Amino acid sequence: MTDDRDPWVRDFYQHPLTEAVLTQGEATQRIADRLWSLLELASGSRVFDQCCGDGSLSLELARRGTRGYGVDISAPFIDAAKRASTAGSELRFSVADASAWATPAPCDAGFNWGTGFGCFPEDSKNQAMLDCAARSLRSGALFVLDYYNVAGVLANFRAEFSYARERAGEEVHITRTSELDLRAGTLHQVWRLSAGGKAPTQLPRTTTRLYLPRELCAMLERAGFSVVALFGSAEGEALSLESPRCLVLARRV
Ligand SMILES: C[S@@+](CC[C@H](N)C(=O)[O-])C[C@H]1O[C@@H](n2cnc3c(N)ncnc32)[C@H](O)[C@@H]1O
Repeated sequence: MTDDRDPWVRDFYQHPLTEAVLTQGEATQRIADRLWSLLELASGSRVFDQCCGDGSLSLELARRGTRGYGVDISAPFIDAAKRASTAGSELRFSVADASAWATPAPCDAGFNWGTGFGCFPEDSKNQAMLDCAARSLRSGALFVLDYYNVAGVLANFRAEFSYARERAGEEVHITRTSELDLRAGTLHQVWRLSAGGKAPTQLPRTTTRLYLPRELCAMLERAGFSVVALFGSAEGEALSLESPRCLVLARRV
């Protein structure tokens, strides 16, 4: 079911080739380690994975004893997450727009990892996603938002970037072209994929709102968080123009 107001994410994240440009792969364990310490998780913690994709991070955390909820707008990703859930795991995955979905029970911690945030052109909808994160957490719970380092994206802007990924035993060549709309404060990106000498396939164009770290902090505060720290990557480096990401760690007031 789609309509004109649907965000581009619905098409992009349902494309059969999208996982070739996205999956965390080997990084999953490392990110789960980092989430474990950043969010002060313990066996039995109830965790909210907002924009969970195929649930790989929640599934990895559940192997270490957590339970909780994952939500994503992509039905194929949620199907994959459900298929990968082991019998008896206390994980509940739902297909929904995360700007209008909160967990049925308050969680002890939460995260939004991998630029699930910022996919709406309207600030109000992006704010609503953080409001839903706040509504899903108990007072005192930690939440981490992992998003573009927009200062670095602007400072080191690359209109075209190519790399290769292995997918189902085949090398996939990926070219990403990026275009800034400074008036709207958005970044448009197009991925072209080719493998096995076939003609390239183009994924649906993405559009992400660009928020500087200060704006992310203000939005989190408006949602009911207090900001604890900013980092430039999952490894916990200080945020700078060269940082690959911007992570904001915040506590539910
Ligand atoms: C780059 S993927 C990251 C997936 C996962 N968090 C991870 O790190 O493996 C971004 C995810 O955000 C989801 N997403 C974006 N906007 C969303 C929305 N409004 N509601 C729910 N999910 C959304 C997409 O469907 C996609 O699965």
